[in-house]
This record gives sequence, C-alpha cells and structure tokens, in this order.
Amino acid sequence: MATAKAHTNIALVKYWGKKDQDLIIPQTDSLSMTLDEFYTTTRVSFDPALTADQITVNDQPVTGDGAARITRFLDIVRQLSGRHEFAHVDSHNHVPTAAGLASSASAFAALAGAASRAAGLDLSRRDLSRLARRGSGSATRSIYGGLVEWHRGHDDASSYADPIMEKVDFGLEMLAIMVSTGRKKISSRYGMQSSVISSPYYDSWKEVVESNMATMKAAIAAHDIQAIGHTAEENALRMHALTLSADPGYTYFNSETLSAIAAVRRLREQGINCYFTMDAGPNVKVIYDRADRDRIVDGLAQTFDRDRLVVSQAGPGIEIWDENN
Ligand code: PMV
Repeated sequence: MATAKAHTNIALVKYWGKKDQDLIIPQTDSLSMTLDEFYTTTRVSFDPALTADQITVNDQPVTGDGAARITRFLDIVRQLSGRHEFAHVDSHNHVPTAAGLASSASAFAALAGAASRAAGLDLSRRDLSRLARRGSGSATRSIYGGLVEWHRGHDDASSYADPIMEKVDFGLEMLAIMVSTGRKKISSRYGMQSSVISSPYYDSWKEVVESNMATMKAAIAAHDIQAIGHTAEENALRMHALTLSADPGYTYFNSETLSAIAAVRRLREQGINCYFTMDAGPNVKVIYDRADRDRIVDGLAQTFDRDRLVVSQAGPGIEIWDENN
C-alpha cells in the first residue's frame, strides 16, 4: 500500500493542444507554478480479492466515465509492473471550501506516485512525470515543486517535465479568485483539440508559445515579476482566443471572469503591478509580488467576498510513502 501527495499547478505559459491524443504528447512546451494551497492525497493498494478497481474520491464512490479513466491509467501501471490485481484507490482533494478548482493535475500526479509505488515500481521523478502525463497533460508538471517546464518532446520517452526553480526564492505569489463552483461544460480534452483542428490561429499560437517560453524563462532568471505577470497574461488571453476562434466557437469565461479581469486592470491603473491568468474554466488567478498582497486583496475585496480570494505560495513537489496494513 502506498500514499502520495501532489500539489496542483497553474500554467504561466499554457499547454493547449495535443499532437498524440493517446500518449498525450503536447503540441508545445509549457511552464507552470506549483501551488501550496491546493493538493490531492491518494492511497492505492492492489488486492487479489477484487474483481474490479474500487475508487473513491472524497469518500464518494466513483463510477462511469470517471472510473473508466482511472482504470485505464491503472492498466498502464499494471502493464509497467507486470501486476494483474485490481486496486483500491482512495483520493482526497484538498481545496478551499467551494473552490471549484479541483484539478486533474494534482489528481493524476498523486495517482501516478501512489499506484506505481504500490505496484512495486520505484520510478525516478522523470519517469513519474512521464507516467502522470498519461493521465492528464498538466499532471506532468505536478511532480515538481516551484516553477516547472514541460518539454513537449516527440514520443513517450522525450515528453516530461523538469524543474526550473524548485524553491521560489523571490516574491512571486498567486491569488485565486473563486468565481464559480460548477463543473465546466467543455472539457479541456475536447476544447483543446477543437482549437487544434478548427482555429485558424493555431499555427500562430505555437509561435506565441515559443516566444513566451523564452521571455518567461529569462524573466524567472531575473526575478522580474512584472515581466512574468505580463507574459503570463498575454499568453492566457492568446490561449483563450483559440476557444473563441474555434468552430464552433466557445468561451470558458463568464461575466464574473470579466469582472475579475476588470478589477485587476483597475488595480494596475492605480499603479499596483498585478496580472491575471485563466485556465479551462471561469476562475481567475492573479500574479503579483508578495509585497503588494495587502493592497491587492483590499482592492479585489471591493468586487469579491474575501472568502473567495485564496492566496497561494509556490508549493512543493510530490511526496510518496509506503504504508503497511
Ligand atoms: O491536462 P489538462 O487536461 O488538465 O489541460 C490543461 C489545460 C490548461 O490548464 C488550460 C493549461 C495548462 O497548461 O495547464
């Protein structure tokens, strides 16, 4: 029996589109920050008495498509390890109440860690990153703490994440504005492939990412939070332009997303450096220097309740431990 704890991550340069949908090989590199406030703990044990995988998330049994996705992932672990038993999987998502930020990144990173260890595999972090990728692209990066780069690679062996700065030793901080708790209607899996296939801007996006990756890495090396935030915001808006320009077009934004964007821009007009980013959902994350936190929280609290503003520091990489029963 083994347990793993993995934190979620928010991309500063986004992954949006696959080259290989089965192996989850992305079209572009990406870069993220792992967050300390949001994580998943997952315990796995293989059991010869089971006739199917038994899965619970937050103590509720998982069935249907959700269970099938986890069983497909466990099949990869069974194949790698030569084990044939089904498994008990117990997972808990630790997110602030009503966050709506439960993430497949921390979930599949934790599952990769716990399932591989429970099956008797002792994978390097690089191999864990490759394994987590098979569950969800963003999980590739959640093996590491701090600032992390996912090299797109070209096959299963060459597509993995590496840490850029595991301990973030400058003031970079992220605040999540919880605007919605509902489930998203368009999955990232479907959404990104519809952009690859039908947005006329997809080729330009690949050039945008290439340039943003270089700018972002230089900004990180220089501890330049303004350049990090500016580049992340530009990258997020250009990613979301791919959803609007797909056929049929759609958006993950709702009216509260737009209010949050306006609130961040207002703060900037007042001379406070802060920037926004959004993923495949309506929540907005704000990027800024810790020294400005109080003024930013006070400013955003004019539009959003304080209990919907969650401050997060850079978080740690995956932890895995054995448990004997
Ligand atoms: O790997 P998924 O299905 O969680 O997709 C992640 C997509 C974004 O969050 C929008 C971008 C990213 O790089 O995390």
